[in-house]
Amino acid sequence: MLLTNATIASLEDNDDFGLIHAGAIALGHDRIVWVGTMQDIPQAYEKLTKFDVEGRLITPGLIDCHTHIVFGGNRAREFEMRLNGASYEDLAKAGGGIMSTVTATRQASHETLLAQALTRVDALIAQGVCLIEVKSGYGLDQETELKMLRIAKQIAAERPIDVKTTFLGAHAVPAEYAGRADAYIDDVCIPTLRQAHAENLVDAVDGFCEGIAFNVDQIARVFDVAVDLGLPVKLHTEQLSNIGGSQLAAKYGALSADHVEYATDADAQALAQSGSVAVVLPGAFYTLSETQLPPIQSFRDHNVPIAVATDCNPGSSPLASILLAMNMACTLFRLTPHEALLGITAHGARALGVQDQGRIKPGMLANLCVWDVHHPSELAYRIGFNPIHTRIFRGSR
Ligand code: NIG
Ligand code: FE
Repeated sequence: MLLTNATIASLEDNDDFGLIHAGAIALGHDRIVWVGTMQDIPQAYEKLTKFDVEGRLITPGLIDCHTHIVFGGNRAREFEMRLNGASYEDLAKAGGGIMSTVTATRQASHETLLAQALTRVDALIAQGVCLIEVKSGYGLDQETELKMLRIAKQIAAERPIDVKTTFLGAHAVPAEYAGRADAYIDDVCIPTLRQAHAENLVDAVDGFCEGIAFNVDQIARVFDVAVDLGLPVKLHTEQLSNIGGSQLAAKYGALSADHVEYATDADAQALAQSGSVAVVLPGAFYTLSETQLPPIQSFRDHNVPIAVATDCNPGSSPLASILLAMNMACTLFRLTPHEALLGITAHGARALGVQDQGRIKPGMLANLCVWDVHHPSELAYRIGFNPIHTRIFRGSR
């Protein structure tokens, strides 16, 4: 396919989205083979099937690098309770929060969980998402963690989308291990990680480093197993407080540190040294009425790449719109539209350890979005509009 008459946000330059006006993109099978201006199209590509986009904008296919999209039930009741004064932490301590989703996820069948996840996945696909990350972490027993990961993998067989799976066994301490977090890590979390890896179900390992979840020593024990298995790590950290998670993530060369509202300038420096991405999740910030802003300027100062994701989950971020996540990253966190677009493309790819997605240049996977807009800032600026024209996944419309 040869896409012609395009405004291309290649994201190859540091300024102005790497825009190419009057551009064209040649695709060979599932890869981008050439990008340039209309005048420079090599003869060899002139015979390809043409797709005239009539001046529309083309961006890389979008990437949602942090989701918990497989889960049972919903938490609308807790939303009400929070509006009546309960805090997220109060609810978690009272056995609600993540634990109520664990109960619902354990009870639900594979088929039900898959069908419900697919409705949310479809919403993301409809906005041009071509790659999502999906975490386990609502099972907290071997059977249910494996069930979640198998469903996550199955999403890619059911829909035109790629999925990266992340093992999040260290998400919360289940009721049957209340007060025995260390025993949970040793008896359930680590053996389940080894089993899931043996079944080829894990692309990365995550944890929740927080007062209401696990401390750095407990997460480190899980990360040591990840290292042993050759798996990259990432971490939910500095979401509600700072107990040293970003520093731990940096020590393990994490792909990303996620949430990071309570991260410090020193944390940003550590993440820069380890080459980790800071993943900001404005949907969770918004839903929990958080007021502590992530240290965006420190990330900029230290050249920490910033990614943006939905964090789609039933508790802290019931959000299945990557475009709204981008808008919120701008309005709430003051990211520029260029930073926000990088956050759901190139930097999202990097947070997943994916090298061949997120920019428009030869060799990259042919995942592209054609938008009914003229300038990329329009994607971040509108609220509740979906200007997608065509989504191209692995070279196919
Ligand atoms: O990313 N922070 C921990 N985990 C999820 C929330 C999970 C939940 O509340 O169900 C998050 O915000
Ligand atoms: Fe999360």
